[in-house]
Amino acid sequence: MKTETISRHDFFRLVGTSVGVILLSNSSMGCSNQSGGDPEPVDQNIDFTLRLSDQINENLRIKGGYIVANNIIIAQTKDGQFIAVSATCTCATQGTLLAYKPADNQFYCPQHLSRYDSAGKVIVGPATQPLVKYQTGTGKSADTLRIYL
Ligand code: FES
Repeated sequence: MKTETISRHDFFRLVGTSVGVILLSNSSMGCSNQSGGDPEPVDQNIDFTLRLSDQINENLRIKGGYIVANNIIIAQTKDGQFIAVSATCTCATQGTLLAYKPADNQFYCPQHLSRYDSAGKVIVGPATQPLVKYQTGTGKSADTLRIYL
């Protein structure tokens, strides 16, 4: 019985090529093959108030800061405006939590790098569906922030 041998160099060249092809095909797919379905139903009853002096909301007292409450990401822009959009990326069903980038006044997804403007519109995919935009306003006192549809 004859056995074939392969040099170490050839082995790593072949394996490296295979791994590279697999990684490239996975990253180029992103989540675009999972988006485009029906968007999540929007809860029309969203209406709640945050007390800005509560420690859990302290990031909202800072320009550029943000928090996530009730699956909504609420941010204070560098201009001092409050904005609120749904907190999970629309790209896939996995529900990746977004982050707010105050320098660009945008929301971005760390998973496949989709970006949304301050109103929730997709700027950069692979996401195709916009975020739900919520209204913000002062509550019954100046220390409160109301989030509603
Ligand atoms: S999960 Fe794909 S861009 Fe957010």
